[in-house]
Amino acid sequence: MNAVIRGTGVYVPPKVLTNEALSQMVDTSDTWIRERTGVTRRHIAENETTVFMAAEAAKAAIRDAGILPEEIDLIVVATGSSNVIFPCTACEVQREVGAVQAACFDLNAACTGFLFAYNTACSYLQSGFCRCALVIGAESLSHLVDWQDRSTCILFGDGAGAAVVCGEDGPDVAAVMHSDGRLGDALVCETCHQKNWQEKTQATLLRMDGRSVFQFAVKKVPEVVEEVLEKAKLSKDEITYYILHQANQRIVESVAKRLGEPVGKFPMNLSEYGNTSSASIPILLDELKKSGQLKKGQRLVLAGFGAGLSWGASVLTWG
Ligand code: COA
Repeated sequence: MNAVIRGTGVYVPPKVLTNEALSQMVDTSDTWIRERTGVTRRHIAENETTVFMAAEAAKAAIRDAGILPEEIDLIVVATGSSNVIFPCTACEVQREVGAVQAACFDLNAACTGFLFAYNTACSYLQSGFCRCALVIGAESLSHLVDWQDRSTCILFGDGAGAAVVCGEDGPDVAAVMHSDGRLGDALVCETCHQKNWQEKTQATLLRMDGRSVFQFAVKKVPEVVEEVLEKAKLSKDEITYYILHQANQRIVESVAKRLGEPVGKFPMNLSEYGNTSSASIPILLDELKKSGQLKKGQRLVLAGFGAGLSWGASVLTWG
């Protein structure tokens, strides 16, 4: 069973925070941020909630797919920064879009979230449990970031992206997922939903060992791409694009180099959005689709990494 992305959609908040504006808030500069990360701007939610952004992206994806909401039988929302714990974000989206036939749940795999959610939906499609899934990555990381920590607040942005994924006859999906909780301290954000949370506000903000995460990403992402290509029995020549989680331009360039592939096969949009965590892959997919760069039959590799630590990849044929 092949899984085909029928439609995509995004919601990105209109409010923009430029590097210049950030350098009025913390001791940094536009030059430092661009040279070390590739980020120029990021979009920040003002009144929008994670649920709102997820639902807007979902509506756009359903329109783009040309299906009825009732045809969707599974909604998976990848998020680590929702405004709701329960009902889950996916149920809130269901209510907004009218996908009354769908089973709904959230999945938290941090920045690897969309990749894990997409792979989860594909295995549900392959097992015959469902026929048409709505997979969403939606984040408001601006609420979790420490705006006094220049080493992290420069990196992240808010937004949501969605994909309608339907099962079709064809080659089985090839997917790989990994996690290593022993490395979890490198990127942490504790929950505030505990009795004494008022005393622990600092711990409820995102903390990261940037160098460790960087080294982890540039090692593990090429490895997992090679692993998924071997599983799919495909060579790199048969891949049109590698759609990587958009965390840092230097990470993407380093992965391209280690794979021996031209960087032109690695589209990037992080200059505009920063790292939108689980939303980054579907936002990039939507941009490529809308700009006409994706053609039927092309093979794409999706690859993600993030807190956990976790990482994974998937090969898909554009339908
Ligand atoms: N502006 C100016 N200087 C900064 C800065 C900023 N925003 N952030 C850090 N610095 C300083 C540091 O204090 C340090 O100064 P020092 O040498 O005087 O101690 C110097 O820049 C170098 O810091 P370092 O942490 O070594 O920089 P780096 O080249 O590793 O870049 C990151 C930092 C965070 C950009 C980089 O490590 C990174 O992108 N890591 C991966 C993070 C990531 O993608 N996380 C999400 C995964 S899903």
